[in-house]
Amino acid sequence: MANALGVPSPDKVTYMDTVAAAAVDYKQQLLDLLALKPGLTVLDLGCGPGADLPAMADAVTTSGRVVGVDIDQKMVDAATDRFHDHPHVEIHLGDGHALPFEEATFDRARMDRALQHVADPSAVLSELLRVLEPGGLLRIGEPDWDSLVVDGDLEMNRAFNRFTCSTMVRNATIGRQLARLARAAGFEVESVHTAAPVFHDFALADEIFAFTRNTERAIRAGAIERADGERWLAELQSADFTAAPLMFLLAARKPL
Ligand SMILES: C[S@@+](CC[C@H](N)C(=O)[O-])C[C@H]1O[C@@H](n2cnc3c(N)ncnc32)[C@H](O)[C@@H]1O
Repeated sequence: MANALGVPSPDKVTYMDTVAAAAVDYKQQLLDLLALKPGLTVLDLGCGPGADLPAMADAVTTSGRVVGVDIDQKMVDAATDRFHDHPHVEIHLGDGHALPFEEATFDRARMDRALQHVADPSAVLSELLRVLEPGGLLRIGEPDWDSLVVDGDLEMNRAFNRFTCSTMVRNATIGRQLARLARAAGFEVESVHTAAPVFHDFALADEIFAFTRNTERAIRAGAIERADGERWLAELQSADFTAAPLMFLLAARKPL
């Protein structure tokens, strides 16, 4: 999807860093739910360039271990570069559908906005169940792209969300499915939380939610009329802008 419909995407590492910087509150919420303490071994599946690894490394201290896994060599290289001097942080190239770890390796496992991209979310959840200790905690934060709210033209907001869900994100409504899928995979669901960070800066929101890029793609795909798309983007840029994505945060546990 790097150059979908002839519209280039930004550099992935830069993109992840931008999102991480804008998502501080929600990331803290997910970290708090993880209840880390010294000595624990924790897996961050789909770790990207490693935005969340320092906080986890601090919490488990050098008596614990933080393991980041990502399927993308570029992400693994960026994270390895950043953490080569942290002996208790390991980065592995790997696929969540077939994790390169023994059964019951981890006390905790987390994913942040990675399940939305995998081919088979249920298979990945089964793998997480396998590699967690009995009683081990799973925490996952995922968006629901059909619930991105943007002040302004409601029909254009809906058309944009429809296009994101149908064409741009593989598992676009994974957030609302988390509890059901986790139970089906064998987890006990402890709680489900939501977060809806509010954005007022169009330029920042545009980098993260790709209003300009994906509207252009939707126009090229015939999903949005060019005149409507261009008018909507012009309105968003000139208006008193407000947008908010809906995030779901799952707290689940592997049964004892
Ligand atoms: C939106 S990024 C989030 C990165 C990081 N969790 C963060 O919060 O900054 C999603 C990441 O999941 C990774 N990913 C996608 N499918 C994966 C899979 N099957 N196994 C492991 N990682 C995967 C991508 O390469 C990407 O780095």
